[in-house]
Amino acid sequence: MIGHIIIEFDKVSSTNDIAKEFIEHEDSDGLVIIAKKQTKGRGRFNRKWFSLDDKGLYFSLILKRNFSFKKSILPFVVGIAIVNTLHKIAPSIKPFIKWPNDIVVNGKKICGILIENFKNGCIVGIGFNLNNDVQNFPEEIRFKATSLYNETKALYDKKNFLDILFFELENILKLDYSEQIISAVRSNLLFLGENISIQIKDENINGKLLDINNDGLLLIEQSDGRIKYIASGDIFDGNERC
Ligand code: BTN
Repeated sequence: MIGHIIIEFDKVSSTNDIAKEFIEHEDSDGLVIIAKKQTKGRGRFNRKWFSLDDKGLYFSLILKRNFSFKKSILPFVVGIAIVNTLHKIAPSIKPFIKWPNDIVVNGKKICGILIENFKNGCIVGIGFNLNNDVQNFPEEIRFKATSLYNETKALYDKKNFLDILFFELENILKLDYSEQIISAVRSNLLFLGENISIQIKDENINGKLLDINNDGLLLIEQSDGRIKYIASGDIFDGNERC
């Protein structure tokens, strides 16, 4: 069960790194490492994840079970669990999944997911801006980040958030079909039907975001009508990076 053991720290380098130390242990499936602050919080492509504000949630969970869906869609499973959690605790806001690993509210990032795979399991690291005021974030990320506090002007109990999230995640992990999961993603997918720009390493691909397939690949219709399948990259909405 996710969260059957929760180990809390005041300050760590990165909860993903601490979780890695536990992954070999028996019974570590579902174990959660949470910290009030991280000194080396990181995101995809080794980007920094600002974690020195103890009002945010920084945690990592170990998954060592077999999934009945394709492993490539795990980020979306986690994304849907977060969206469902938000529907329950803050029904006034409209969260979107920004492919592949972000949750966005009102065009700004509220949550990032970093999944790292190891030979005997994977670590799901989640950074969620809960009670933070993004005015206290470093200037370079302030304009593109939001928090649940900033969106609703209310404060939230961290434990309650995690209890609901773990319940949601446990339920979705039981789903048998990738199609069911992807269909939930499609309903909450940011930029669906819109023209976007995707950066893949040094290349930029422009086109209309047509769909997401059952492997989690994005289908982009280019101006010449060709459809391109995208497996990884960063979406821009044409103006500003989220
Ligand atoms: C991203 O946006 O690229 C993913 C950000 C993930 C941040 C979380 S915070 C808890 C866990 N520990 C880390 O060092 N990173 C993840």
